[in-house]
Amino acid sequence: MALASSSFSFASHFAPYAVSLIILHLVLMSNSSAMKHNGYVGHYVHHRHCAASNASTPRLYRAYLPLQAWKRVIYSDPYNFTTNWSGLSVCDYTGVYCTPALDDNETTVVAGIDLNFADLAGFLPDELGLLADLMILYLSSNRFCGILPMAFSNLTLVYELNLSNNRFVSPFPAVILSLPSIYHLDLRLNEFEGLVPPALFRNGMDAIFLNNNWFKNTISASLAGNSASVLVFANNKFGGFLPPGIADFADTLEELLLTNTSLSGCLPQEVGFLYKLRELDTSSNNIAGPISYSLAGLAHLEILNFGHNMMEGIVPAGVCTLPKLTNFTFSYNYFCEEDGICQNLTAKGISYDKRENCLPEKPLQRSQKECKAAIEHPGYCYEHLCHRTGTGSFGSAFPFAPAPALGPKPLPPSPSPSPSPSGIS
Ligand SMILES: *[C@@H]1O[C@H](CO)[C@@H](O)[C@H](O)[C@H]1NC(C)=O
Ligand SMILES: *[C@@H]1O[C@H](CO)[C@@H](O)[C@H](O)[C@H]1NC(C)=O
Ligand SMILES: *[C@@H]1O[C@H](CO)[C@@H](O)[C@H](O)[C@H]1NC(C)=O
Ligand SMILES: *[C@@H]1O[C@H](CO)[C@@H](O)[C@H](O)[C@H]1NC(C)=O
Ligand SMILES: *[C@@H]1O[C@H](CO)[C@@H](O)[C@H](O)[C@H]1NC(C)=O
Ligand SMILES: *[C@@H]1O[C@H](CO)[C@@H](O)[C@H](O)[C@H]1NC(C)=O
Ligand SMILES: *[C@@H]1O[C@H](CO)[C@@H](O)[C@H](O)[C@H]1NC(C)=O
Ligand SMILES: *[C@@H]1O[C@H](CO)[C@@H](O)[C@H](O)[C@H]1NC(C)=O
Ligand SMILES: *[C@@H]1O[C@H](CO)[C@@H](O)[C@H](O)[C@H]1NC(C)=O
Repeated sequence: MALASSSFSFASHFAPYAVSLIILHLVLMSNSSAMKHNGYVGHYVHHRHCAASNASTPRLYRAYLPLQAWKRVIYSDPYNFTTNWSGLSVCDYTGVYCTPALDDNETTVVAGIDLNFADLAGFLPDELGLLADLMILYLSSNRFCGILPMAFSNLTLVYELNLSNNRFVSPFPAVILSLPSIYHLDLRLNEFEGLVPPALFRNGMDAIFLNNNWFKNTISASLAGNSASVLVFANNKFGGFLPPGIADFADTLEELLLTNTSLSGCLPQEVGFLYKLRELDTSSNNIAGPISYSLAGLAHLEILNFGHNMMEGIVPAGVCTLPKLTNFTFSYNYFCEEDGICQNLTAKGISYDKRENCLPEKPLQRSQKECKAAIEHPGYCYEHLCHRTGTGSFGSAFPFAPAPALGPKPLPPSPSPSPSPSGIS
């Protein structure tokens, strides 16, 4: 749920184009909510909305060629999405949306394509570069494979690109970095691999979904100038630790989801500077060390998940009294003490999971043996027990800096986690 909950504020971002964008968005939104209510893509409703329903303008004709080229390389279309993609009336094609052009409000152009959940198999041909008026491209939940054509660099107006849940296999598609308007990027649930280029975090992006791929990052990059409100990296092979430079997202970041990304080291206290955060999930990693008291500053935080790590020390009251907190999970760690009201989260109306820690007199905790092994190690339950190498300046490394050579103190291996990252599938 949370993964798709990015707040969308295109109107302020694209004020000059607001009218076209709002029309396009309303059309697409009404369709996807219709789709949600039906729960069945076979009932997909196509709203007629084109003023000009024939290819009378050269710009509509220019869209005819790439759409036909695309149809030729779609080898399976079980729901007949492209069956009526014939003739010059491209605005009537299922999933194709037209609006007045941004640069000429009397000319109708193909501005959106929504083939989410169409289950199409095929690939994306070079000719798609001719769809130069396209602003929105939704291709989620199909069986497209291969790579993104370089000709995509022509799609200079595209600001929302949803390629999630397909079969793309390649390194990070660099052509995306050349799209000047890109704002909302969803690559989740593919087989992209290799490094995520630092440039992705510099170009005015709002939401970046990379979860459930094979990305592996050890890069360093400056974070200056980034503007994302949603970063979802879950279920990748990032490794390394979360650098203090994450603080550079403070003015925008609302969701940071890092579950199952092979993170180690400590959570930097700078996480507490992300004052707009509504959801923070670093579960199912190898994060050690305490919960920083700085987290008490996250006044908008609703969901906090530290489950399945190797964290320890005191659960601070400042976190348990966060005004918006509704769900606090810290099960499967080595916390040894709960400060004040943390002992009774029920009284605060907070859903919680504190199983399998070392909390005295709480049910379902780790065995004394396991906890003793942790407690006997010096530094247990103290702040500052993590080595913070490479933390000279904010923004020096992201995502993610290599794990510090002097890692956090060794703890007994955590039991093999069986997380249930809800919403990330
Ligand atoms: C097709 O375009 C022509 C020329 O602009 C216009 O006169 C005609 O009404 C249009 N037909 C339809 C069905 O919109
Ligand atoms: C798609 O079209 C074919 C041929 O017209 C038809 O047999 C099939 O039932 C259609 N499928 C759906 C899901 O409408
Ligand atoms: C294609 O199908 C949609 C939905 O059934 C319909 O609204 C549209 O008019 C059709 N387009 C053509 C060109 O037949
Ligand atoms: C179209 O653009 C012209 C010139 O920019 C402007 O005067 C006119 O009001 C616009 N029409 C609409 C419907 O937005
Ligand atoms: C890019 O778009 C222009 C029209 O705006 C077109 O002439 C050109 O062929 C396109 N390039 C590619 C690589 O598709
Ligand atoms: C992108 O696709 C996902 C499903 O993989 C869906 O949940 C999400 O709403 C889509 N986003 C947009 C903007 O289409
Ligand atoms: C964790 O991420 C890896 C990919 O890095 C994936 O193969 C695995 O299924 C994920 N685990 C869960 C529980 O989702
Ligand atoms: C709280 O969060 C955990 C972990 O994400 C989730 O499993 C659980 O269902 C949530 N509880 C509620 C009441 O939303
Ligand atoms: C937690 O607080 C509630 C309401 O304030 C109270 O009824 C309950 O007995 C407390 N539980 C414990 C374990 O202190």
